Amino acid sequence: MSSDSSSLQSAAVINEAVQSLRDGGLVAFPTETVYGLGADAKNPDAIKKIFTAKGRPSNHPLIVHLAAPDKFDQDQVDWVPVLAPWVRDLSEDALKLMNTFWPGPLTLVFKKDKSVLTELTGGQDTVAIRAPAHPIAQELLRKFKGGVVAPSANLFGKVSPTSAADVRSEFEGMLDLMILDGGDCEVGIESTIIDLSSGNRAVLLRPGHITPSEIFAKTGIKVYLPGEGNVGEQDVTPPRVSGSLRAHYAPTTPLRMYASGRVLDALSEFPDIKSRVAVAVWDSDSSLGEDGHPSVHFEEVIVPSDSTTFASRLYRSLRDLDQQGWDLILFPEPPVGEEWDGVRDRLQRACIGSGPSSSSHANS
Ligand code: TXA
Ligand code: MG
Repeated sequence: MSSDSSSLQSAAVINEAVQSLRDGGLVAFPTETVYGLGADAKNPDAIKKIFTAKGRPSNHPLIVHLAAPDKFDQDQVDWVPVLAPWVRDLSEDALKLMNTFWPGPLTLVFKKDKSVLTELTGGQDTVAIRAPAHPIAQELLRKFKGGVVAPSANLFGKVSPTSAADVRSEFEGMLDLMILDGGDCEVGIESTIIDLSSGNRAVLLRPGHITPSEIFAKTGIKVYLPGEGNVGEQDVTPPRVSGSLRAHYAPTTPLRMYASGRVLDALSEFPDIKSRVAVAVWDSDSSLGEDGHPSVHFEEVIVPSDSTTFASRLYRSLRDLDQQGWDLILFPEPPVGEEWDGVRDRLQRACIGSGPSSSSHANS
């Protein structure tokens, strides 16, 4: 079991992790979203190790994680010197977003500085950057004094880890890996990604805990959906976002969503009726409301009806259920509403990629 997030790793352990990064090693560390698999962003060999360890195609870009300036608890922080080595230019909007949401679960995509390694950008001329809020991540980054690339610390296409034990089980026997334990991740799904690289509009690439409405309310910046309001002459090449693959975040047990009160409909896709089915039900409505099925044993698993709590436990539930030998896992379709977009997105991709052959889907 992982420890409580207040029990921080000792300075000696962090120093060892810093040394390992400097030596070109990989270090898994907690962030407030999910655990990351970190490497020195300036070391091409270390970056290659990440792609190999995850089985991730080399054209899928990584996020660079940066330390916040020392006085990040003060109102106005100067992010310009922090970002200067990585990005070509910083707009007013970028500064507003950083001042409002960093450190935190928001990733921003910029036109990259020429010194940024193409190994980490998947050959693109843009770079994704975030300053994570977790104190262990911040301490590691501050002591390392450089950028750390870190994808989620899971095998490509699989469920992201939200505890140190998850990371361990993901790479068990495959990888000699130092893992910093920061307890369970608070947010539970990956950061919101906003593309600022076009220079004139902010575009949502991956929904997360921070929503376009919250961004608009706090900064006045409108965040567009990809393709929304395109006027034709803009660059139409979609950025490669591995989280945007239709299949992702997937358990090996088949997973489907069911519409309210329609559990039996969800089974129709499985003609050789499954016998052991785990059905997640809202805590606000914890009964299937079904008459049951003659050859199926349903077991109810209660899930939170609050979107933030649901997100924080989603990957934990998927991992745990995946270990329990069910024939099928059913989740309720999340309600309509922007605060559910992040979990709906992850659940949809997890459904598509789920099942014993999920890795081949994920790579397609
Ligand atoms: O919460 C998070 O963002 C976690 C923690 C560890 O920080 N990291 C994470 O990394 O989710 P990863 O590699 O699993 O997902 C990063 C996403 C991918 O979908 C990738 O394609 C996208 O960020 N990305 C990275 N650089 C990009 C770029 N230059 N343009 C567009 N998308 C980019
Ligand atoms: Mg990932």
